[in-house]
Amino acid sequence: MNRDIKIGKIVIASDHAGFELKESIKECLKADGIPIEDFGPGNSDRVDYPDYGTKVAKAVSDDENLNGIVICGTGIGMSIVVNRFPKVRGTLCADVYTAKLCRQHNDSNVLILGGRVVGKGLAYEIVNTWLKTPFEGGRHSDRLKKIDHIENMLTKGEL
Ligand code: RB5
Repeated sequence: MNRDIKIGKIVIASDHAGFELKESIKECLKADGIPIEDFGPGNSDRVDYPDYGTKVAKAVSDDENLNGIVICGTGIGMSIVVNRFPKVRGTLCADVYTAKLCRQHNDSNVLILGGRVVGKGLAYEIVNTWLKTPFEGGRHSDRLKKIDHIENMLTKGEL
C-alpha cells in the first residue's frame, strides 16, 4: 500500500473469524513501515471477540496517540464492544466512502472490519483510505463534544 499517513501507531486484534484478514493487513502495514502491535489471537482457534476487542479498545481509550483496527466475522460484535469504552470512536466499514467519511466527520480512532464480509482487496482499500484521511474538525468537533457530554451525564446518572 502506498499512503500519505496521517495517524501513528496501530494496535490490532481479531477473533478467529477475523484472524486471516488481521494477518494480511498486518503484513501490508509492516511493509509500509507503519508501527503496529498485535494483541492477538496468534492462531485461528475459536475465541470470544469481547476478549480481544477489549484489548484494543482499552489501549486506544488510554492513549490518544493510538489508533486501532479490530476484526470479527461481521464486525458487529467488535463494534458493540469497542464503543463501550470512553473516547473510543469505532466505525464499522464495508466500503471506501464510509472509511473516508468516518475519519473526516467522526474522527474514527478504531476501524472495524468484518472478515466474513469484505474481501482482502476491499479491506486494503478501506484501511488505506482510513489511514490517510484527516479529521475535518469544525462543526464535527462540536458534535463529538456533544457525545462526550452525553457520556459524562450518563456516568453521573444525570441522563
Ligand atoms: C463468530 O462466529 C462471530 O459471531 C463473530 O466473529 C462476530 O461476527 C460477532 O459479531
